[in-house]
Amino acid sequence: MKNLLGTEEVKTAYRRYAAVYDRLFGAVFEPGRRATVAAINTKADQRILEVGVGTGLSLQHYRADASVHGVDISAEMLEKAREKVAMHGLAQVKGLLEMDAEAMSFADDSFDVVVGMYVASVVGDPARMLAEMRRVCVEGGDIVLVNHFASENRLLRGFEKAISPIAGQIGFHPDFEMQTLMDMAGLELVKVQPVNMFGYWRLVHFRNHLVDAAHPQRQIGYSENYKLASSSSPAE
Ligand SMILES: C[S@@+](CC[C@H](N)C(=O)[O-])C[C@H]1O[C@@H](n2cnc3c(N)ncnc32)[C@H](O)[C@@H]1O
Repeated sequence: MKNLLGTEEVKTAYRRYAAVYDRLFGAVFEPGRRATVAAINTKADQRILEVGVGTGLSLQHYRADASVHGVDISAEMLEKAREKVAMHGLAQVKGLLEMDAEAMSFADDSFDVVVGMYVASVVGDPARMLAEMRRVCVEGGDIVLVNHFASENRLLRGFEKAISPIAGQIGFHPDFEMQTLMDMAGLELVKVQPVNMFGYWRLVHFRNHLVDAAHPQRQIGYSENYKLASSSSPAE
């Protein structure tokens, strides 16, 4: 992944997607959303932040006693999310804010859980987003990301590399490496789980606890979990 997407490129792409997003990416990404929310829906009364909340497809899954905030850089995507909150009466959603995940206005340690679904390969600078996710999450809290990562399959990898120059038009980086995410995060790893069609996407669950960032392979559980996840994926 070489070129970072610019904020305006992202906004333009998702302004176009907003009207059709649910039809294009609703059902196909739904197992990953459900798995992400299931991973953190385990405790009562949690303060939860979802970055890149988009059209709010995940919001109905959060438990009723949660206090959920969502942020997104696209006003058009957020508008769709607000419609869902109103339509389904989602009282656990306390705020949907137009905000850049790379520079959030929340105070440090504002949330028990921070999640990002299909946003890590979209955001202009994923390292800055991860740093912000860490900052606003309490020490020891949960940070969960679900994303497509560059495939280990040679043919698919070739295809992903071939289309990477048009990342700006399609609105995400198809060749985002999972190792890059691990290196950027430098956090204790709880688990990696294949999700969605053919297990081609990965749910990555971190504990907000910095490990030796210079040596991410030493992250607790990294090698064991990643090997396990890869070998259980029929696609790769
Ligand atoms: C692929 S969509 C995912 C939407 C939703 N999470 C889902 O599960 O379908 C990526 C979203 O990330 C948002 N996004 C991209 N860059 C962002 C940034 N810097 N800050 C906040 N949101 C951002 C986009 O506007 C878009 O709504």
